[in-house]
Amino acid sequence: SPSDPGLVERARAAKEKLGSKVFVLGHHYQRDEVIQFADVTGDSFKLARDAAARPEAEYIVFCGVHFMAESADILTTDDQKVVLPDLAAGCSMADMATAEQVAECWDVLTEAGVADATVPVSYMNSSADIKAFTGKHGGTICTSSNARRALDWAFEQGEKVLFLPDQHLGRNTAVRDMGMSLDDCVLYNPHKPNGGLTAQELRDAKMILWRGHCSVHGRFSLDSVNDVRERIPGVNVLVHPECRHEVVAAADYVGSTEYIIKTLEAAPAGSKWAIGTELNLVRRLANRFADEGKEIVFLDKTVCFCSTMNRIDLPHLVWTLESLAEGNLVNRIQVDRETESFAKLALERMLALP
Ligand code: 13P
Ligand code: SF4
Repeated sequence: SPSDPGLVERARAAKEKLGSKVFVLGHHYQRDEVIQFADVTGDSFKLARDAAARPEAEYIVFCGVHFMAESADILTTDDQKVVLPDLAAGCSMADMATAEQVAECWDVLTEAGVADATVPVSYMNSSADIKAFTGKHGGTICTSSNARRALDWAFEQGEKVLFLPDQHLGRNTAVRDMGMSLDDCVLYNPHKPNGGLTAQELRDAKMILWRGHCSVHGRFSLDSVNDVRERIPGVNVLVHPECRHEVVAAADYVGSTEYIIKTLEAAPAGSKWAIGTELNLVRRLANRFADEGKEIVFLDKTVCFCSTMNRIDLPHLVWTLESLAEGNLVNRIQVDRETESFAKLALERMLALP
C-alpha cells in the first residue's frame, strides 16, 4: 500500500535526528510502510539475536508484537530501552498460556508423578512469565527455526516435554521432523480440570502439548492445500509450522518466515508457489519475485493479516520516532528483574543450542 508521503518524510527526519541512538527491528509480518524503516528484518530468532548484538543503541524500536519486545528487553543491557510502537500489539497465541494456568499444569504433572521427568520447551510466542517458568524448571525457549534442535536437547535432559503454548509447532516438530507418532502426544487443556487428562495418559505421553494455537495460521486447512494443487498444477506448497498438522503433512516444504524467504530466493524461475503464512509477507514476496518469473500465491484467500502485527502502522512509528527524538521515552517494554533473570536463562539455553 502506498504510504502517506508526509508521514514517510517525518519518519525519515526523526530517524535521521536520532542517528545511531536508535535501532529499528522489523518482523517479516510487518506492513511495507513500516518495513521500509527497519534497520534489520527477520524471523523471531534472528531478531532476538540482532537485538542482543546492538549494545550501542539506546533505543531499540521493535516493530513486531509484545512478546518479541519483551524478549529483546531481556536480551539487551539495562541501559537500553526497548519500545513497542503500539502497546496493543499483542499475540493471541501468547495470551493462551497465563502464568497461573502453567503453574497449575505443573501441579497436575507433579500429582501424576511426571514433573521430575518433564522438561518445558516454550515457543518464543509466550509472555516473559512463561519464559521465566521455563527457565526455572530447566527448560529452553525455541522458535520455529530451531524447534527440532530444542526438542533434541530437551529429550537429552528428560523423558518428556511440556510444549507451550503452540500445540501445532510442538506436534509438527515431534511427528514430522522427529518421527514420533500422534499417539506420543497428548493435549493439555488449561480450561479443564487436570488439563482433561488422566494421570495414566500423562505417564504414557512423550509430548504434552499445551492447547494453544495461532488464529491466523490455524485458518489454513487441508482443503486450502487440495484446492490450490487443483488450481495450479505443479505448485509447491510452502507453509509455516504453526499451521495444523494435516496442512503441514500435506505441504511440500515447512519452515519459519526466514526459511520461507530463503527457499523462494533459491527457487528457479518459472516455479510456482503457494505460501501458507501471514499476508503482508506473502504479498511482499509475490511482488519481489514477480520479475524473476516466480509465481507466488497466497495459500487461502479467505485468511487475512495478523491483526495485532498490523497494529504497528506508519502513524504509530512516526509518533514513536518523533517522541524519542524529542527526548520523550514512550511505550517502553520493561520486564521486572526477577522474571528477567529466569527468562534469560531459558533464552540463553536457546541461543546456545548447537
Ligand atoms: P517466525 O518469524 O519465527 O517464523 O514466527 C512467526 C510468527 O508467528 C511470529 O509471530
Ligand atoms: Fe501471534 Fe499468530 Fe500473529 Fe504470530 S501470526 S503474532 S503467532 S497471532
